[in-house]
Amino acid sequence: MNRRSLLLSGLGMMPLLAQEAKKGEKLAPYYPTPELIVEKMLHLGGAKKGEKVFDLGSGDGRIVIIAAEKFGMNAVGVEFDKDLYTQSAEKIRRLGLAEKARIIHGDLLQQDYSSADLITVYLLPVANEKLRPILDKQLKKGARVVAHDFEVGGWRPDKTEVVEDDGEGRSHTLYLYRR
Ligand SMILES: C[S@@+](CC[C@H](N)C(=O)[O-])C[C@H]1O[C@@H](n2cnc3c(N)ncnc32)[C@H](O)[C@@H]1O
Repeated sequence: MNRRSLLLSGLGMMPLLAQEAKKGEKLAPYYPTPELIVEKMLHLGGAKKGEKVFDLGSGDGRIVIIAAEKFGMNAVGVEFDKDLYTQSAEKIRRLGLAEKARIIHGDLLQQDYSSADLITVYLLPVANEKLRPILDKQLKKGARVVAHDFEVGGWRPDKTEVVEDDGEGRSHTLYLYRR
C-alpha cells in the first residue's frame, strides 16, 4: 500500500475515532512529513523570521519545531491526539523553544487563524474541503497556505512543486496558495 492509500485508508477509522474524540473529528491519520519535505514546504511558503505559522494537525510537532528552530518563526501546532500533543509539547520544552513554539491541544476546525502568515497542512482531501471555508473567512490578505500531497479543492495553487525523491524513493507534491 502506498503512502497516499495509507492516508486515505485512515478514513475507514473515522466512525470509531469520532466516538473517541468528542472534541472533533479525525481528519487524517498520523503520517509524518519527512524533514527534508518540511523544509521544502516552509521555503515554498516563503517562511520568514518573526512570521506566524500554524501547522494544522501537527503530529509529533516537527513542522512547528523546524519552523521555530531553523526559520525563526513564531510557530503554533494544533493537534487533538493526546499522546502526540503531549510528546510534541514536551519536545518543545526540552529544546528550549517554548517562547517561539507551542501546540494547542484541540480540533483544527475550531481555531482562530486570523493572525497566520503561513499555514501548513498534511490532511486528507475531505479535511481540506472542510477547512477551506474557515480559512477563506479568517485568513488575512497575503497569507499563504502550503498543502502536502492533497490539494485544497476549490482553490487554484499559485505554485506546485514536485519532489521526485525524498531520499527514501518517495515523491511528494506541494501546493502553494496565496490568499
Ligand atoms: C498526516 S498527519 C501530519 C502530521 C504533521 N503535520 C506532519 O506533516 O508531519 C495528520 C495529523 O492531523 C491530526 N489530526 C487529525 N484530525 C485532527 C483534528 N480534527 N484536529 C487536530 N488534529 C487532527 C492527526 O492526529 C495527525 O497527527
